[in-house]
Amino acid sequence: MKQKLIVGNWKMNGSLATNQALVQGVLAGLPGLNVHAAICAPAAYFASLQILLQGQTGLVCGAQDVSMHETGAYTGEISASMLLEFGVRYVIVGHSERRLYHGELDAQVAIKAQRALSAGITPIVCVGETLAERQAGCTEEVVKRQLAAVIHTNGHCISEIVVAYEPVWAIGTGLTATPEQAQQVHHVLRQQLKAASPRADRIALLYGGSMNAVNALDLLRQPDIDGGLIGGAALKVPDFLAIMATASQCAIA
Ligand code: 13P
Repeated sequence: MKQKLIVGNWKMNGSLATNQALVQGVLAGLPGLNVHAAICAPAAYFASLQILLQGQTGLVCGAQDVSMHETGAYTGEISASMLLEFGVRYVIVGHSERRLYHGELDAQVAIKAQRALSAGITPIVCVGETLAERQAGCTEEVVKRQLAAVIHTNGHCISEIVVAYEPVWAIGTGLTATPEQAQQVHHVLRQQLKAASPRADRIALLYGGSMNAVNALDLLRQPDIDGGLIGGAALKVPDFLAIMATASQCAIA
């Protein structure tokens, strides 16, 4: 089984002091773990993280968003080339919190993914249904529509992306999709990607939404779940390390 990818999304949390303790704690627990890991931090901390993560290959820095523009009069925006200058290797695009609070649309998310890819940064494209959409039986339709926009815009580069399935109702709620529910959606996404690219097998499909040290094993052992996008549990060293240890165990199994 291939190595899993575990990504922490810090969201708008942290401080210079707590970040240092968190990163050093995670780095101390990494040796011996067979896992790829990244932390997606607030942009204000990239410079300090670049120093903390210098020379590390097991834990790299990611961003939580990127501008859909290359350069110019876009106050408050950060371009992909700026991220690259700080050693950012991944960027989350289309997180449900950006879609909900900032009105991001599928087509914009697709362009953000394109900007990241052009800069050599791996976009982590988030898709996921709301509770109302799940209850209405629209889950597959919603995630396929969200992913289709990214496939349409990024064509032959699509095998370079990472996809994260994050059911909106499971984010920060303590509710998790059952492993079967998550696997079912991941399977649908995998088929969609396979239809778009002969190299789709190499695309990592992450699950996100209240993943923790307790439920990680059952999720990560599903055939189409290649890793996790972790919010709350990524802010605590023991919890994040426990998920990484589980992922490492699944890679060996
Ligand atoms: P939680 O793990 O806190 O539910 O957050 C998931 C998430 O939104 C990661 O991007």
